[in-house]
Amino acid sequence: MLIGQTRPENSGRRDVGRLSFHVKRRPGVLCCSRFMVRILAITNQKGGVGKTTTAINLGASLASADLRVLLVDLDPQGNATSGLGLDKDGLSTSIYDVLLRDADPASAICPTEVDLLQLLPSNRELIGATVELTTASRREFRLKRALESLHSHYDFILIDCPPSLGILTVNALAAADSLLIPIQCEYFALEGLSELMNTISRARQIINPRLCIEGVLLTMYDERLNLSGQIRESVQEHLGHQVFQTIIPRNVCLAEAPSFGKPVLLYDARSRGSNSYLQLAREILERHFPGPLAEVPKIEKKGLSP
Ligand SMILES: Nc1ncnc2c1ncn2[C@@H]1O[C@H](COP(=O)(O)OP(=O)(O)OP(=O)(O)O)[C@@H](O)[C@H]1O
Ligand SMILES: [Mg+2]
Repeated sequence: MLIGQTRPENSGRRDVGRLSFHVKRRPGVLCCSRFMVRILAITNQKGGVGKTTTAINLGASLASADLRVLLVDLDPQGNATSGLGLDKDGLSTSIYDVLLRDADPASAICPTEVDLLQLLPSNRELIGATVELTTASRREFRLKRALESLHSHYDFILIDCPPSLGILTVNALAAADSLLIPIQCEYFALEGLSELMNTISRARQIINPRLCIEGVLLTMYDERLNLSGQIRESVQEHLGHQVFQTIIPRNVCLAEAPSFGKPVLLYDARSRGSNSYLQLAREILERHFPGPLAEVPKIEKKGLSP
């Protein structure tokens, strides 16, 4: 069982060494015990829009603000799992066991290189869940029920959804307080968005009346391209105040970091990608806790090899 800051072995974990990432604890920095857990599902049925990149790097940024974060990898591709340095094929317990075999979620949780960021990992075994859940009782609420026992141990739970609107995503919609929707700054950016919005309003009616939209996040913005600017204007025009002010630039460090099994904060803390996700964490904290509580502290890096 791994909850809080203990670090038992998990056979799926690659030996990446002791984390070397620290934050300064300062008075005025958000205090973990002051609010209830907030569960954010990062979703868009469109593939490759930056869901996993956002889950990993927002998770690391919130953890750098001394918040206890659990990232739930709900995608059979297991990209969040490998992107955080775990060997997804060597997992002894995964989200599949939690959803289908009633395994204790705490027994599947793994540490990551970032203090306070933990992972409920996934791998391709989860593909079977799509079929197996169709006959299971209360199948939409499996994840919600599993996470309930973890609420008091975390400040944020982030769910990295697969690129579909199937039963796994429906489980995320049932479990979440709010949705973060990444949209890639490309020509077909808004394609499929109305389908997603319809699914969200059906989810509100049937499985989760309190579900709200945390925000729409523009990702992979390339300021050299007119197209990126046009897409930004069009998304802001359509979705107005729901769009985060923070825009994630296209940045090579964000693309490279997962192949080293690291969030970008550990790969290159000074990169634009790293700063943009810290800014997103700040924006989210400011929405919920305006004022000095929302401060994301300055990061102190120790003994890191870039
Ligand atoms: N801001 C960025 N700058 C550069 N590359 C990025 C950025 N965001 C994501 N990428 C890259 O784009 C690809 C898709 O990103 P990611 O895996 O996060 O999308 P996804 O929505 O989770 O995809 P899927 O739908 O397959 O789960 C990855 O190779 C990732 O490294
Ligand atoms: Mg993904």
